[in-house]
Amino acid sequence: MYHLIEETTAFIKHRIGDFTPEFGIILGTGLGKLADEVTIAYQLMYANIPNFPISTVEFHTGKLIFGVLNGRRVVAMQGRLHYYEGYNMQQITFPVRVLKALGIQKLFVSNAAGSLNPNIRKGDLAIIDDHISLLPDNPLRGANDHRLGPRFPDMSRPYDVTMIQEGLEIAKQHGITAHRAVYVSTPGPNLETRAEYRYMRAIGGDVVGMSTVPEVIVANHMALPVFAVSVVTDEGFHEDLQPVSLAEIVKVASTAEPKMTLILKELVALQQ
Ligand code: HPA
Repeated sequence: MYHLIEETTAFIKHRIGDFTPEFGIILGTGLGKLADEVTIAYQLMYANIPNFPISTVEFHTGKLIFGVLNGRRVVAMQGRLHYYEGYNMQQITFPVRVLKALGIQKLFVSNAAGSLNPNIRKGDLAIIDDHISLLPDNPLRGANDHRLGPRFPDMSRPYDVTMIQEGLEIAKQHGITAHRAVYVSTPGPNLETRAEYRYMRAIGGDVVGMSTVPEVIVANHMALPVFAVSVVTDEGFHEDLQPVSLAEIVKVASTAEPKMTLILKELVALQQ
């Protein structure tokens, strides 16, 4: 894999010249508008990047956007890979490896998630402070390459403590409801049953979603600090569970998206 990372990184560097991104941003489902705030320097379609996996429809239109966000050089991934699409964990996390090799110093991640916690409501933001993986696989399974990171990475603080504080503070200043939350990751693609939502709450989850954890594990493996935020799109309250559709999830995500965009925009500007 090291060789593939080098090959892809060399290809991209050739395209972007001396533009070195400081930060990477992964945009979640229905949360791509942050890209409109980026003054774009270069864009590369995933389909044209060697070794990027592109077998699904969403990913065919995916692209890497290099540019300036609120005065800082960023690379944003518009269109992310999910386990339920059939990719393996190494494929899902390959772009994160490449962004690190391109020079990013911090990773920002967004996603849509369902609430497990009655204090966290639809349309709120949840700043992820910890996670529980219920995924059936791990991106670090297999031989470990020490050039990338250790065999047994520490995960005692998988989300950067300072950035969590800063994110909560920015939200407060703008009157945005943002909670500190434990994210449970499920493989999907189905939403949860009532018994599963009850179980996820009982084991300590606040929100649940189908992404983020593979990328966060790999970022931790490479000692890359992470900030992650969920836009809460539905309420998985087992006591009175209502049916939800993807259309509804996407609608709520787009309504709440500007709050998330604002927080990420201000947060990148604050970084050293
Ligand atoms: N469950 C799992 N994934 C999700 C949900 C949910 O309720 N909402 C958005 N993504």
